Amino acid sequence: MIKIITIIGARPQIIKAAALSRVIRNNFADKIQEKIIHTGQHYDENMSQVFFNELGVPTPDFNLNTGSGSHGEQTGDMIRGIEKILIAEKPNAIVVYGDTNSTLAAAIAASKIHIPVIHIEAGLRSFNKQMPEELNRILCDQVSTLLFCPTKSGTKNLLQEGFKEHNSAPYSIDNPKIYHCGDIMYDNSIYFSELAEKKMSILKNSELQPNEYILATVHRNNNTDDTTRLTAIFSAMKKIVEMKKIKIVIPLHPRTLKQLSNNEALYNSIRATPAIKIIPPVSFLEIICLEKNASLVMTDSGGLQKEAFYFKKPCIILRSETEWVELVECGAAIMADANEEKILTAVNHFFNTKNILFPAIFGDGKAAEFICEEILKYIH
Ligand code: UD1
Repeated sequence: MIKIITIIGARPQIIKAAALSRVIRNNFADKIQEKIIHTGQHYDENMSQVFFNELGVPTPDFNLNTGSGSHGEQTGDMIRGIEKILIAEKPNAIVVYGDTNSTLAAAIAASKIHIPVIHIEAGLRSFNKQMPEELNRILCDQVSTLLFCPTKSGTKNLLQEGFKEHNSAPYSIDNPKIYHCGDIMYDNSIYFSELAEKKMSILKNSELQPNEYILATVHRNNNTDDTTRLTAIFSAMKKIVEMKKIKIVIPLHPRTLKQLSNNEALYNSIRATPAIKIIPPVSFLEIICLEKNASLVMTDSGGLQKEAFYFKKPCIILRSETEWVELVECGAAIMADANEEKILTAVNHFFNTKNILFPAIFGDGKAAEFICEEILKYIH
């Protein structure tokens, strides 16, 4: 039996952890013991607890209650807390997801005390080091031992950075192994898709009809914290609802709500547009339900870009770059940045294009099984 410690903290990581925890519980319970640390990066009920309740992620064994703060404060507090637990627990390895401050803190804490780091969602790059996430993922990959890339472009990026395609075991921080394994979020979308059918009340509550609304989310710091960008995005939305006679529903991240509330003129003009419906953050099953029934998705979230694709919905990316380049390459997504004109052109394009292709580029929905098998081969 090996012991792994999974470190989660932000909303998307709780969702990603559901896929691996489920497979460990169902198929590998006699071989892998999993303990969970929640850093507490996200702490509001609707940003954290709701996902545990709904997705069957086990209650964390440890909660650091870190909360919000500057990058240094938040990451530093997490490193200190995680290190203490790792020293006491002595796991065979840790598992981290994605690119948040919780990911980086765990990777630093574990690698410095020679505990192997398993990075799921490795190799993704935006090539924009102004993004905190880009720094987090590069640094985490550099100290990882097993690196599981969801896409081919993930492995390509790692090879360009000097990682080797074929190493032989034993694997270590100096001799890491990289994989192209598919996306565990695709596993989750398949698994939870049917259950999400039970959440149609989320449409009803916002007076939405299937296929007659756009689903939008905005939470990236460069969109929320820059008034010009935030204004451009919402001003585009106002034009869209007018032009297309369609509703837009926006489950709003708390940081975006804070910034909007500070911008009275913008906030009032949105509230005076009834076709734009701002609602509190929703659960995973609810967001899947909203995705499945939307006619189009607009987002700066990486997760939502892919989920739109899984449910065969076109997507407008409110950023100037994406880690999920395959979506743009196959024409299912358009990068419109926070640029009003580009957003409107993209909306027109998708409203007038019928044959959008959604090829299978994210694996077979069994990435978590594959990851567990590989962990068992090499982590002792
Ligand atoms: C973090 C991740 C981002 C990920 C996102 C998912 C980093 C650097 N960023 O961004 O990659 O896409 O999570 O949601 O790790 N807040 C609350 N309640 C909460 C959590 C946050 O009110 O439960 C507010 C606070 O004002 C906080 C702000 O949101 O300061 C930002 O939270 P933080 O965790 O620093 O980053 P996110 O924007 O959520």
